Amino acid sequence: MSLLGLLVWAYALVFVSGSPVDNGDESLANILNTFQIMDDKDVTVAISHALKEASLTNDTCGACTGRLAIGKSLSLVRPDLVPATFEKWCNDNKYASESTCATNYHRNTVEASTTGSNFADMLQLMDPYGYDGQLYCYYKDSGACPKPKTPNVSLSHLWPAKQDKHKVAPVSNGSDTFNVLHISDFHIELDYTVGAEVNCSTSMCCTPHSINAKSNASDSSASNWNSFYDGSHYMDSNFSFVRGDKLSNPFQGVSIPAPSFGHYHCDAPELLINSSLNNVVDFAKKQKLDFEFAIFTGDLVDHDEIRFTDYKMTVKSEQYIMRDMKSRLGDMPVYPVLGNHDTFPYGELAQEGYGFSNKDSWNADMLADIYEDYGWLDRKQADYARHHYTGFSVNTKQGLKVISLNSNAFYKKNHYCYWNSTNPDSFGQWEFLIDELVESEKNDQRVWIITHIPPISDSLPLPSKIFGEIVERFSPSTIAGIFFGHTHLDQFNLLYAKDVKSIDTIVNMAWIGQAVTPWVENNPAWRYYEVDSETFSIMNSFNYYSKLNETFANEGQEPEWLFEYSARDVYNVTWPSQAPLNASYWHLVAEKIKSDVSYRQLYENLAKRWSPYVPDCSKGKNCQTDYCFLSTFVTDDYDKCVAQLKSN
Ligand SMILES: *[C@@H]1O[C@H](CO)[C@@H](O)[C@H](O)[C@H]1NC(C)=O
Ligand SMILES: *[C@@H]1O[C@H](CO)[C@@H](O)[C@H](O)[C@H]1NC(C)=O
Ligand SMILES: *[C@@H]1O[C@H](CO)[C@@H](O)[C@H](O)[C@H]1NC(C)=O
Ligand SMILES: *[C@@H]1O[C@H](CO)[C@@H](O)[C@H](O)[C@H]1NC(C)=O
Ligand SMILES: *[C@@H]1O[C@H](CO)[C@@H](O)[C@H](O)[C@H]1NC(C)=O
Ligand SMILES: *[C@@H]1O[C@H](CO)[C@@H](O)[C@H](O)[C@H]1NC(C)=O
Ligand SMILES: *[C@@H]1O[C@H](CO)[C@@H](O)[C@H](O)[C@H]1NC(C)=O
Ligand SMILES: *[C@@H]1O[C@H](CO)[C@@H](O)[C@H](O)[C@H]1NC(C)=O
Ligand SMILES: *[C@@H]1O[C@H](CO)[C@@H](O)[C@H](O)[C@H]1NC(C)=O
Ligand SMILES: *[C@@H]1O[C@H](CO)[C@@H](O)[C@H](O)[C@H]1NC(C)=O
Ligand SMILES: *[C@@H]1O[C@H](CO)[C@@H](O)[C@H](O)[C@H]1NC(C)=O
Repeated sequence: MSLLGLLVWAYALVFVSGSPVDNGDESLANILNTFQIMDDKDVTVAISHALKEASLTNDTCGACTGRLAIGKSLSLVRPDLVPATFEKWCNDNKYASESTCATNYHRNTVEASTTGSNFADMLQLMDPYGYDGQLYCYYKDSGACPKPKTPNVSLSHLWPAKQDKHKVAPVSNGSDTFNVLHISDFHIELDYTVGAEVNCSTSMCCTPHSINAKSNASDSSASNWNSFYDGSHYMDSNFSFVRGDKLSNPFQGVSIPAPSFGHYHCDAPELLINSSLNNVVDFAKKQKLDFEFAIFTGDLVDHDEIRFTDYKMTVKSEQYIMRDMKSRLGDMPVYPVLGNHDTFPYGELAQEGYGFSNKDSWNADMLADIYEDYGWLDRKQADYARHHYTGFSVNTKQGLKVISLNSNAFYKKNHYCYWNSTNPDSFGQWEFLIDELVESEKNDQRVWIITHIPPISDSLPLPSKIFGEIVERFSPSTIAGIFFGHTHLDQFNLLYAKDVKSIDTIVNMAWIGQAVTPWVENNPAWRYYEVDSETFSIMNSFNYYSKLNETFANEGQEPEWLFEYSARDVYNVTWPSQAPLNASYWHLVAEKIKSDVSYRQLYENLAKRWSPYVPDCSKGKNCQTDYCFLSTFVTDDYDKCVAQLKSN
């Protein structure tokens, strides 16, 4: 290390023990001068050494926040050097695997979904020794700090007090119903390759780069499979199925070859996506029922490793799925949300107005254009989406309001959520939601909320708590439905007013839509709701699925799609036929699941749509946390529930 390098290192160490740097700090000006005459490589070496020194302690939390403080100092003078510096420190000290070091710290490129530049952006604005740093070190640096206490802040000043008349839900006069389609989590695998390795050593298989690191000997479990037809597709003109060419020797060099329509260890080939959409349309035609509109709860891009996730592939995946939905669903409006995968780099989304949101604007521009071109949103709504993370509010023809939110604003992997994180609404999205709800409440209009990530799953505690408070304030009179995706499982979440979970404290519930992608280990599925035309309460849900394993040995023919169950019938709950399947109904279902293993098993079967991988709930600790998941809505409540389970 050069002398100057040592000097910088000494400065950096001062900041580990000192307070975060202010822009006006005199020592900062000194560092800046020093950095300007230093070679970039010397700065990188010196600071990565400081990171190493800061980590030489058994106080993992102090080490983590110390690294953030050093990183912040660097980011304020040379943000461009942050990625290389942290990547070097990470690799030199084997802090993580090379690929994880690259994912977390390598500078942003269009080639792979690395996030080092987003990390540098975050450092510039964060408070390393306050809540920001603690939160980051808990969620994004392997639990280096204990989970910090969630700040007691609220947005209740944004709404008027609740009136008595809003403490009950409107009751229908027994009017007509209409139908709404709910589809979720397509995750198109653009490089899905018939004959590629299914039994691969990484998380995402069936690609040309999927290999089994242990053995390529053909696995006997697949010995009778014969559905290896390359190039199978649905025609653009009339959607009819064309089977491709049979592979001549699929078992050569792979343990299990990928069949035509997909596999449980792979995301969805477009063929499967088209098949699911064809099934929706054929089913409606056969049953002579219309879907008035569709909600799509997010995730278009596949789960392949970051090094295989590039910008072009992200754009193409988003465009393909939107096109496929439009081609099949025609004039039916589709109200979409974006998922955590539907951005580049993966998971990132910056707040408007703080200098970084131009990094994401291409995505909002493109999707708002698509939504408008396809007639799903009008000009004004699309323009709102363009400038507000693709979120929007629409009044449907039937008189319902649908509000779409971008859940990356509360996603635990999004770097931009870690600065000013005691601010309950740095994205401004909650204020938008509240304003819309206040307006609807005044007009006695009912509202559905759609977003991708459930607030208890992968969501940060503060925004999750705020979401829960908003739902509580506007339930049951205004919020008639809440819909999520993300987990790929057929599930629901209950929100209770107090710690006591009872029929008297139940507030509202959310429906989690099952995925089309079979990853990981689920059968592809979709559902529709029967909706009361006056109250927009859900009267029933009807669920459809396909047994994917039956397509492995059917000579490449199309999957068969089957009726799975209706939510009113399947759980044997006694419930008045005129009453909606509201939170009170689902409370009764959750109680059965809690107390009776046969209902817990039923729930698991449905969650994974009877796939070959459903856990056996009578064994070991299987299914133990199911009730915690179903009976909570907010991150902290879920964590508390699981902690209680573990201590018992
Ligand atoms: C960390 O803890 C180990 C085991 O208690 C001890 O041997 C070591 O000296 C400690 N290291 C530091 C830097 O305190
Ligand atoms: C949170 O803040 C509110 C309002 O300031 C206060 O009434 C309440 O007691 C606080 N709760 C906790 C747990 O500190
Ligand atoms: C049911 O009918 C009554 C009387 O016509 C009306 O006041 C009320 O608004 C109706 N309920 C709903 C939910 O439309
Ligand atoms: C998959 O590959 C592993 C070796 O990596 C092997 O042990 C296993 O039996 C194979 N088959 C299945 C069905 O997992
Ligand atoms: C399996 O085949 C792939 C591709 O041909 C090869 O790269 C890999 O080394 C083979 N693995 C084993 C264990 O033979
Ligand atoms: C899926 O459907 C779209 C729209 O009709 C079509 O352009 C595309 O080629 C289809 N892909 C496959 C694999 O069927
Ligand atoms: C779809 O179009 C193709 C080619 O134009 C034709 O061969 C096929 O019979 C059509 N299928 C149906 C079901 O109409
Ligand atoms: C951080 O959030 C607070 C509200 O909690 C706000 O007053 C402040 O302006 C925010 N800081 C920045 C830089 O936006
Ligand atoms: C659900 O509907 C039933 C029957 O209309 C009603 O008694 C109950 O209060 C409703 N529950 C909620 C949480 O709105
Ligand atoms: C629900 O009731 C039906 C009919 O009585 C019964 O066959 C079924 O086993 C019950 N379901 C469960 C999960 O107990
Ligand atoms: C598919 O999986 C289900 C669930 O494990 C099983 O019951 C069924 O027999 C399997 N079908 C085939 C053709 O393997």
